[in-house]
Amino acid sequence: MWRSPMRPLTDRSDSLGSDADTDQTGLRATSATEHRSVVAQQPQWPDVQAVALVEDHLAGLAPLTAEHEVDALASGLALASEGRALVLQAGDCAEQFVDARRDLVRRKIDHLDSLSASMRVSTDLPVVTIGRLAGQYGKPRSSSTEMTRSGELIASYRGDAVNSFEPNADTRVPDHPMRLLTAYRCASSILDEIRRSWSDRHPLERVYASHEMLLMPYECPLVRDGSRGMYAASTHFGWIGERTRGLSGAHLEFARSVTNPVGVKLGPNATPEDAVAISRRLNPDGIAGRLTFIVRAGIGNVDDMLAPVVDAIAADGRPVVWLCDPMHGNGYVHDGFKTRAVTSIIGEVTAFTRVLQAARQWPAGLHLESTPDSVTECVPRTDGPHSFTDYRSSCDPRLNAEQSAEVVAQFLALL
Ligand code: PEP
Ligand code: CO
Repeated sequence: MWRSPMRPLTDRSDSLGSDADTDQTGLRATSATEHRSVVAQQPQWPDVQAVALVEDHLAGLAPLTAEHEVDALASGLALASEGRALVLQAGDCAEQFVDARRDLVRRKIDHLDSLSASMRVSTDLPVVTIGRLAGQYGKPRSSSTEMTRSGELIASYRGDAVNSFEPNADTRVPDHPMRLLTAYRCASSILDEIRRSWSDRHPLERVYASHEMLLMPYECPLVRDGSRGMYAASTHFGWIGERTRGLSGAHLEFARSVTNPVGVKLGPNATPEDAVAISRRLNPDGIAGRLTFIVRAGIGNVDDMLAPVVDAIAADGRPVVWLCDPMHGNGYVHDGFKTRAVTSIIGEVTAFTRVLQAARQWPAGLHLESTPDSVTECVPRTDGPHSFTDYRSSCDPRLNAEQSAEVVAQFLALL
């Protein structure tokens, strides 16, 4: 079995402790495992033995995804890297266990389908559709603590696979790694619903699953043998977040070791050297569709940050899929609510698309946090009053159905 590099631990001091916008906040693993590196953003479960038992259990369970499904998605992403397909990746910032219900999952799938149908109709191109779905249960956090609305300082929510969203000090303890098994069970039932939605559709017209490959004691035991090496059977597509993409980190090493198509987030501080090094590391053979860069620079940073990165990747010659995540660089707090303005989101999409087009590269698509529900989590614009009457997200604010359709339409108008 692929062992999590978390055990045994010699330094448990600070994985939750400091600003995780650097890559150096994680645990340092010294076990005789497959690799020896920094493992950022891992929960500090009180009982390390229990983590080991859960890992053993996960290793014995059925793979959640099949290699041929993963390969079908990779073929679609290969087309997208060549400018012959678009990509829509979207869904909740954090899924919640209580939402792993057939009817709710079906609504999410239908919403993704309708957004990608609009992209297909407008461009006549195939659209690769990927949900933030069936495993988006672990969240990286910039701060180890957060303030409740009543003014209590409690541990941050790290996703249902780690602790409870309920804002009180007791339930925020990363109580038990058994939550990882619940994550597996929920992901399994969601994947059943995803497959039901496929019926006899062409592989390029299906919704696939994806999540951030964050929690190593979940990801490592779910690696399975495939025909070309090992693949992550926890999902179809996994991405590495902005906080865990360090070149010396365990997450990049994990992504390197599996054959799935993988994504890497690139934030405002990503350099051309970072991007080229990541591409060489994860995709040494330059396989089309293997690597997706998900750019989340923030509206004011796209021009300066992205143009040199795109040029460097083009000069290096290895293909990538370029996606715009206009969500994670544009957050702010309004009346105590985390929010984002649709105008900034559209502004970032516009800047991203123009930079790619100026460099004669293909802006392949969007990575959104969205929901079919009529929530009021994202505001129309940064100025003006807003009442957050229907705010349900357990993590970042999502575009509602109408707002997501508007962002997609604005992107399509630029192609
Ligand atoms: C996310 O996609 O929810 C996320 C945490 O993104 P990032 O790593 O880009 O901050
Ligand atoms: Co988010």
